[in-house]
Amino acid sequence: MKIGILTSGGDCPGLNAVIRGAVLKGIKIHGQEFVGFRDGWRGVVEGDIMDLPRQSVRGISKQGGTILGTSRTNPFEGDGGPEVIKAHLERMGIDAIIAIGGEGTLAAAKRLTDAGLKIVGVPKTVDNDLDATDYTFGFDTAVQIATEAIDRLRTTGESHHRCMIAEVMGRHVGWIALHAGMASGAHAILIPEQQVSIEQITEWVNEAHDRGRAPLVVVAEGFVPSHMESPHSERGMDTFGRPRLGGIADQLAPEIEARTGIETRATILGHIQRGGVPSGFDRVLATRLGMAAIDSVVEGRWGTMVSLAGTEIKHVGFEAALGNLKTVPPHRYEEAAILFG
Ligand code: F6P
Repeated sequence: MKIGILTSGGDCPGLNAVIRGAVLKGIKIHGQEFVGFRDGWRGVVEGDIMDLPRQSVRGISKQGGTILGTSRTNPFEGDGGPEVIKAHLERMGIDAIIAIGGEGTLAAAKRLTDAGLKIVGVPKTVDNDLDATDYTFGFDTAVQIATEAIDRLRTTGESHHRCMIAEVMGRHVGWIALHAGMASGAHAILIPEQQVSIEQITEWVNEAHDRGRAPLVVVAEGFVPSHMESPHSERGMDTFGRPRLGGIADQLAPEIEARTGIETRATILGHIQRGGVPSGFDRVLATRLGMAAIDSVVEGRWGTMVSLAGTEIKHVGFEAALGNLKTVPPHRYEEAAILFG
């Protein structure tokens, strides 16, 4: 059996560990053969593939990024569509696809499976916002990177008696902000799920400052303060027509400075959170998901993705991952907010 693997959407640490887990188990246990599609669905639509022999995955679980490349290509646009893809797969002798990606990738995979293609999925999102899986690989690494960066902001903030604002990723959900903020002892954490007024933010900043601390605010890029209607965006649209986010920290800094009189600096961590080596947790999770995807292929579980439930790997239908975002529940925010100010 010949299996094609693709990585699609925004990259995150752990993608290579998934590829390695799948290829090693497939070759060792089932004698399968592997190819990789270059740059996500683009490689599928254009029939652009590379061989994935065993030696191609040697030592890659600790490597950031994806050896296959990625893109945000929609397989139904341009020259794409199920018939074109079926023809490519037949010509190249590929029997099944393992699609590693987030909501957009899995939605496309579902449509293609409904049209008769043999696809299984592996959930991927650094934001940890996919429902139907407890954690996604890449998230733990992003939290670690953000926490280390915020710890560094704190020492320079304390030297200068400044308020420091750290902006982290999180388009629709605030998991990275919540975890990195809690880990670094932030005086305020601002997430997309919770609207907070500028008055409340400055109150937390003042409280910390009055105790002789350098106030530390962690904000997710998708946070919407009560005086705004939608997330701050000034960078145009992405390929899915969604506003590119980033910059809310720069908006908040002068507001906080003007209202509190405390010198304030903003830092946007950006794509640094998605780069570099994955954490041990992410390597293990990604490797297990990659191996479980092979079980899905062998068992013909088309239209399903592998997922983490507690400590076990399960198989769930694509539809379970689509539609519902895994947002930060109010009680988790309230728990963190006890320590604000
Ligand atoms: O979905 C993951 C994510 O990192 C978001 O947090 C962020 O808004 C977006 O991707 C950035 O996308 P791009 O890599 O296209 O700039």
